[in-house]
Amino acid sequence: MTETVEAAVGIEVKDGIAVITVDNPPVNAISQAIRQGLIDAMNEIAGNEDIKAAIIIGAGRVFIAGADVREFGKPPLPPTLPEAITAIEASEKPVVAAIHGVALGGGLEIALGCHYRIADGGAKLGLPEVNLGLIPGAGGTQRLPRVIGIEKALDLISTGRQAGAKEAAEIGLVDAVADGELEAAALDFARARVGQELPIGSARETPTPPADNFFENAKPAIAKRARGQISPLRALEAVEIAATLPYAEGVKREREIFVELRGSDQALALRHAFFAERAVAKVPGLEDAKPREVAAIAVIGGGTMGAGIAVACLRAGFPVIMAEANDEALERGLANVTANLDGYVSRGRMTEDAKAELLLRLTTTVDYGELAAADLVIEAVFEDLAVKKEVFGKLDAVMKPGAVIATNTSYLDINEIAAATSRPGDVIGLHFFSPAHIMRLLEIVRADKTAPDVIATGFAVGRKLGKVGVLSGVCDGFIGNRILAKFRKQADYMVEDGALPWEVDAAMEAFGMAMGPFKVMDLSGLDISWAMRKRQAPDRDPKERYVGIADRICEAGWLGRKTGRGWYIYEKGAQPAPNPDVEKIIIEESASKGIKRGIFTVEDIQNRILHAMINEGAKIVDEGIAKRPLDVDMVEIMGYGFPRWRGGPMCAADIIGLDKVLSAINEYAEEDDFYWAPSPLLERLAAEGKSFSDLNGA
Ligand code: 3HC
Ligand code: NAI
Repeated sequence: MTETVEAAVGIEVKDGIAVITVDNPPVNAISQAIRQGLIDAMNEIAGNEDIKAAIIIGAGRVFIAGADVREFGKPPLPPTLPEAITAIEASEKPVVAAIHGVALGGGLEIALGCHYRIADGGAKLGLPEVNLGLIPGAGGTQRLPRVIGIEKALDLISTGRQAGAKEAAEIGLVDAVADGELEAAALDFARARVGQELPIGSARETPTPPADNFFENAKPAIAKRARGQISPLRALEAVEIAATLPYAEGVKREREIFVELRGSDQALALRHAFFAERAVAKVPGLEDAKPREVAAIAVIGGGTMGAGIAVACLRAGFPVIMAEANDEALERGLANVTANLDGYVSRGRMTEDAKAELLLRLTTTVDYGELAAADLVIEAVFEDLAVKKEVFGKLDAVMKPGAVIATNTSYLDINEIAAATSRPGDVIGLHFFSPAHIMRLLEIVRADKTAPDVIATGFAVGRKLGKVGVLSGVCDGFIGNRILAKFRKQADYMVEDGALPWEVDAAMEAFGMAMGPFKVMDLSGLDISWAMRKRQAPDRDPKERYVGIADRICEAGWLGRKTGRGWYIYEKGAQPAPNPDVEKIIIEESASKGIKRGIFTVEDIQNRILHAMINEGAKIVDEGIAKRPLDVDMVEIMGYGFPRWRGGPMCAADIIGLDKVLSAINEYAEEDDFYWAPSPLLERLAAEGKSFSDLNGA
């Protein structure tokens, strides 16, 4: 969003009540013009005897989405938001915030500076600053605990979650939920408050914590959830300040923490992630492509992925037809779909009735002829080129003209799959991640002949499914699995050279990854990558180092969680424990290669893996597989558990500095110049003193 010339605060007086309208499309972000406009409005209200009260309302679809995040990287422009809010709160005439859509961050802080808040039934309120690496910086951490109490305020501020209007009314965050039209309700509400003593958030008594040691006790859970992110713990600190210091000192401390965090690497990375998440769908060169109409979807295969994809489509409201190889497989597929839906029901996220309603929209078949009505078909059969080609040949014969034909392949060459049809322009990769109904990433893979409107259709359907679509070109593993393969090789090398799998996992979890790589392998099953290694063996470059430890583990029949043993041992009710037999195999393998096992510190492990990811990511951008570095970052954050607060590997590289990244890679290359061959793009950017963000566009 760019600052628009119309950004303005308007005043209209309706029967003695001023209607102050904040208008800065699309989300009324609080730019400098809005801050100044609010102060001017309050001055006008104070000086006009005909005005008895005021309401503040947002134009368009929301109240106010918060501070203008785009201003954060730039020198601050006066007046500050706290100054604008103080002007509102100081009004001697009642001011009512009339909230619809969202009141977030600075938007909710403005509402807390008002004397009263009234919300539309669909409104959502929250202080999401922690998600941008910040804490609220305009009194939110000091006023909110005074208005709703310490415990509830800490929950909202440390998680950044949004409360709906109903909850907001229950906890006292809003004084009323509008019955009927919001502006009219707010005007009535304000009129009824004229002449009454005004409740002032900052003047309320210092709130007391619900129990002794409340903050100390709350800390471990917040730290655990934060996984290395600083802002949630700073949020706790700010709320604790509200309970211990007078308001005036509290807001001063809050602002100091806010300003400190605003300039931090984590805030920069999280801002990058916020904008990258929105930028991935804006593909350079595809601005004019219009998506094709998709009303009905077919899914081929009801296995792990097919069933997950079917559920994602059903939940988005599409009718789905699922095809399987035979009746028995179809029955299993239906059971897989039902099991996925039961997962929602048991967690209270779906009612039995809603589940039944979804299942009514699912039909199943073993006859491809019945798929003809679908506008989009997503194939998720075995990862075998011959099988996929046969399926695509059959689809070509039955699908209606203009239907989009997609494959969920993880690694296979989509150009070859497309060549099995007479219409390669309609063929695309839609690469979901397991579990497909939950994971938000969708790689949209463009083959050589894929038509632009077919790509646009991939993005449009992805958005309807609630996914973040990222465009990738065709290569082995596309963006995500290609980086993953590189990452895992580095993990294997370190294990053969001296680290233990659980040390690598612990280091990467400390880095902020959702789960260490060896635990992930155990979870998905070691046989999958074993089969792939066997498949790749004939073409493996003799210069490439090969580690045979995982093969030996598979040969022993330990395939991960599903067999109770893999890198770890899994016993019911117990945490996964390191598998001592694996350690023996590792020591033997190192010895058999004459490797003297060394020591890897946590930093060594993290640095090697991060640099391996950066180098591969740079190659992926250089080859045009990813259009921009931000596309690589989003794939890693959304699909591979990379810590959002590091902004993705390419953003992390920018923060380190590309010259430093390159020299570390060159140093590693002295041990293995095949694996660590530096990316030419990285070399060029480092030589020019540039960063990856220079390639991300405006
Ligand atoms: N500042 C600047 N631009 C913003 C913005 C903000 N706070 N919030 C949204 N935008 C932009 C988006 O980048 C997007 O721009 P684009 O069209 O050029 O891509 C446009 O507004 C529309 O946003 P969405 O695509 O996200 O629209 P949705 O309808 O899906 O969601 C929303 C709307 C719920 C408001 C969502 O955008 C959102 O959550 N925004 C961020 C809210 C936030 O984090 N506020 C806190 C800011 S920090 C703060 O207030 C500090 C204070 O304590 C001092
Ligand atoms: P799976 O083995 O669980 O399911 C495959 C299903 O396809 C089986 O139910 C089988 O009966 C069915 N099938 C086989 N031939 C068929 C045919 N001719 N017509 C109709 N159905 C047929 O496999 P999974 O894990 O669901 O993988 C499917 C695809 O998704 C593969 O290409 C895989 O690479 C890809 N993928 C898998 C991920 C994972 O984590 N499992 C993640 C992302 C992609």
